[in-house]
Amino acid sequence: MHNHPHTTPLRIAIAGLGNVGASLVNLLASAQSRGLNARSSRPIELVAVCARNKNKDRGITLSSSMLWCDDAVKIANAPNVDVFVELIGGSEGVARTAVEAALNAGKHVVTANKALLAAHGNALAALAEQKGVSLNFEASVAGGIPIVKTLRESLCGNSPTRVMGILNGTCNYILTRMEAQSEPFDVCLKAAQELGYAEADPTFDIDGFDTAHKLSILTSLAFGTQIHSEIQTLEGIRSITYEDIAATRDLGYRIKLLGIAQRIGNTISQSVQPTLLPHNAAIADVGGATNAVLIDADFMPSLLLVGAGAGGNPTASAVAADIIDIARGLHILPFGQSVAHMPVVLPAQADAISHRYYVRFAVQDKPGAFATIATHMAQQNISLESIVQHGQSSSSGIAQVILVTHKTTAPALHKALDAISNAHILATKPQSMCIESL
Ligand code: HSE
Repeated sequence: MHNHPHTTPLRIAIAGLGNVGASLVNLLASAQSRGLNARSSRPIELVAVCARNKNKDRGITLSSSMLWCDDAVKIANAPNVDVFVELIGGSEGVARTAVEAALNAGKHVVTANKALLAAHGNALAALAEQKGVSLNFEASVAGGIPIVKTLRESLCGNSPTRVMGILNGTCNYILTRMEAQSEPFDVCLKAAQELGYAEADPTFDIDGFDTAHKLSILTSLAFGTQIHSEIQTLEGIRSITYEDIAATRDLGYRIKLLGIAQRIGNTISQSVQPTLLPHNAAIADVGGATNAVLIDADFMPSLLLVGAGAGGNPTASAVAADIIDIARGLHILPFGQSVAHMPVVLPAQADAISHRYYVRFAVQDKPGAFATIATHMAQQNISLESIVQHGQSSSSGIAQVILVTHKTTAPALHKALDAISNAHILATKPQSMCIESL
């Protein structure tokens, strides 16, 4: 059978010309020379762009015939646009209004907006389904890693049991740099911002919200459930100190901000928290702004995808693939199945999961401190694997005490830590992190 290429161009509008938008313009400008038109079976033509500031130097060249406007909703509705590419960001406001307008106008939408999907993904997917158009969002999770397609298409013959990921480049960059260069948190955050990885509001990165948005999308794709963005455990990396990095390294672990979704009976647990991984595990070796996703599925165990999770070019690469799918006429429902058939998530109980835990106490170096810690742990039925003092106590008589527990639950551990905090032997709040088994 011969495949006759269409000659009608697929007409694209891009709203938002930040790092990703500018990279996408460059990618599309070289489409012909890089063989994209042949691969798409038809030319892809950029017909409209929308950004606030027309005069900013973005390192891109736009043809003079192109519609430039500062109203995203207007280009979402423009009659000569087939695909609306939303790269504005944010769960509400103009991004949401423009995406809804485009879908309502029967146009395909490609978006990198994880916050929008976490908040409104169910409704937007239902609207796209009703209108018979694509809503593609490969770039919304883990930048250039093709994790959406992997879960929705490549692994669709499986029943995944667990998905875990390093999903925020900024956090991974900060943790890696703190360890490699012994630099404080703030210096490392500033460097990540300068490299263009961080969100406009970096609290989204470092307090775990960005990871949570991405995880809620992966959960839905993996387990076929509706998006449930209320992640049960949500902690960022702000409280991690160099003492934690050094102590965990000495124990043979590395700290990563992990998003983990797993099926437990008919419930689903979603958590985002700094987690200790054995340092010789492949996923623990993923450093800098690189992201990684580890999927355990019944017929395909331990699939690890690693790649650039942030930055203009890798994210534009994912957006381009979504556009090319539309040009090729490949239409798959946003979550791989009808929203009407996707059950709501029944969140797992907090005590349904057990882990070993790392705990660091800043203890007044006095007789009885270890005994107090051990007693309160025992009262919660928590057995200790090891307890050591890390280094000398400081001139003020404060010692870092590092403890590793046998398996216990988060509620039991928190009860024990509250009791120890109330026993007046600690100089600061205890630090605890779970140890994930792979
Ligand atoms: N701020 C995000 C990150 C960008 O650091 O990973 C990609 O979503």
